[in-house]
Order: sequence, then structure tokens, then C-alpha cells
Amino acid sequence: MCDYDKLFDNNKAWVSNNLAADPDFLSRLSADQHPDYLYIGCSDSRVPANEIMGLAPGEVFVHRNVANLVNNTDLNVMAVVNYAVVHLKVKHIIVCGHYTCGGVKAAMQARDMGILNPWLRNIRDVYRLHKAELNGITDEEARYDRLVELNVEEQCINILKYASVQESYIAHGYPEVHGWVFDLKSGLIKDLQINHKEKLQQIQEIYNLTDKDWHSLF
Ligand code: CO
Repeated sequence: MCDYDKLFDNNKAWVSNNLAADPDFLSRLSADQHPDYLYIGCSDSRVPANEIMGLAPGEVFVHRNVANLVNNTDLNVMAVVNYAVVHLKVKHIIVCGHYTCGGVKAAMQARDMGILNPWLRNIRDVYRLHKAELNGITDEEARYDRLVELNVEEQCINILKYASVQESYIAHGYPEVHGWVFDLKSGLIKDLQINHKEKLQQIQEIYNLTDKDWHSLF
């Protein structure tokens, strides 16, 4: 049985514990935010963004959704990325997936999932892009793990398709995009070592959005 009222007691304890450790805690908390990181992760309750990175309030701007997707028509994630890049001027954007992700598992089932279909389709598109590699993995668990990783990689590429991200990187050298997978069994983060520069160059062949002189095309 969950104890809803306990949440308020927890909150008061959180305030007093933080104040005991740092008397300036609340004045810093209520001041402006200047996070260096944007974290895009899964909504899964077992992956607490701040905690796994050891970051305090104010240090990371966070967006979470089912299976950490960066979708082209999702105004929510678009607003988050744009605000983080243009206004907060974050230096790093992290897409963090996790093994045993329920969203990725659901996408691997070839069946109608109702309202989830359009959301899961993004992951099914990742599968289609990497079908040869994935179908070559006979062990189902290993294939599942690999799809989690490839999904993170494709979402990193989706971030590189933003004009604001391309423009800021070319002008200032940031933000750099990173792909991570959180392993619930070890508690450790695996860096997929995505080569930001190389990926950006590859996609700019098709997705270069830094040239504003499109009027001459018509
Ligand atoms: Co998940």
C-alpha cells in the first residue's frame, strides 16, 4: 500500500537535510538556473536522472518520455531542446536510454498497441534502419539490448537535425551530443562514444539547416 501523505513528510525532511548540509541551499535553489547539461531520458521510475549522475538541483535540465525519444513532431521535446540550446546555452546534451526498457520491448512486439502505436513507431523505424544488424543477432536478449543502444544513437542523430543545435555548434563549439545507456543491473552508465563531429558531418549532407538563403530556390 502506498503512503501518499508520506510524500509531504519526505519533502520537509529533504529541505531540513539539505539545509543542515548547506545553509545556502534554498537561496541557491531559488536563484537563476545555469545548467551545463540537458538530459533526455526514459520516464522509467528506476532511472532518476540527477541521482545517477550525482548532480544537484540546478545542474541539469531534464526531459523524460517513454523510451527517450526525440521526435520530429513532438512540440514538447522541441521546446526543451530549443530552450536549453538557445537560452540556457548548455554545453552537453545527453540522451540516456536504459537496458530492459519497456518501451523498446513493446516496440519489438509486432502487434497493435492502440494509442502507443504512433509513439512506438519511432522505435520500430530505428529497427527498420538497422534491420540487417539486429536480425543477425540470434540471442533475443542481446538483440533487445542492441536495439536500446541503436535507439539512443538515432535519437542523438535526431538532435543533430535541429537548426539551433547545428548553428550553436558551428558558432561556439557546443553543445556536444552524447549517447548513454544506463544498466540497471550494475547501476553504471555506459557511454556509447558517439562521435558528435563525425555524425554531424554525415547528416549535414542531407540535413544542413544552417544556410538561410532558401528564397533563391524558388
Ligand atoms: Co524505458
